[in-house]
Amino acid sequence: MSDAALIEASLIALDGREAAMRDLLFDRFLARFPERRAIFIHIDATSVRMTDETLQWLYGLAQDRKWVWSQVAELVFNHRNYGELRQDEYDVFVDFAIDALRDTIDTWDAATEGAWRRQAASLKTLIARARAEWAASPLAFS
Ligand code: HEM
Repeated sequence: MSDAALIEASLIALDGREAAMRDLLFDRFLARFPERRAIFIHIDATSVRMTDETLQWLYGLAQDRKWVWSQVAELVFNHRNYGELRQDEYDVFVDFAIDALRDTIDTWDAATEGAWRRQAASLKTLIARARAEWAASPLAFS
């Protein structure tokens, strides 16, 4: 089965349990980076968007969708509003999103794990590229 098909099957299995997955993700993420708790002002709304977009991008990458790059670039730029976020924070968020999905749904196997982690590696590379490009841009100081 393709990565896209495996990822799609996990997303279907998540139906109706999104809130439980988000709670797991944000509890673990903020336990890892407790100093970031204060910058989440509207966490009920934000956690929905941050989780949904992460999953959608991973699915989009598995389908080789070109729109993922422009969304990542925009998001990394906008996130400068929240301070100097580090690459390891993005990486952990992506990893924990997949962990939370795995721990929420009933069906998970080695092929599914491989599909998600492969796309996660691509997403982290895109985030790193966006961070580097913005850092080199004149806009970085405006
Ligand atoms: C792949 C990773 C991430 C995705 C897809 C993502 C996505 C988003 C989205 C869509 C929003 C809402 C923006 C809006 O409504 O205009 C948001 C807000 C926010 N994000 Fe992220 N984000 C990611 C990683 C991170 C990381 C690593 C941090 C912090 C360490 C972070 C901190 C925040 C904060 C503080 C807000 C605003 C929170 C609030 O007002 O409650 N994000 N993010």
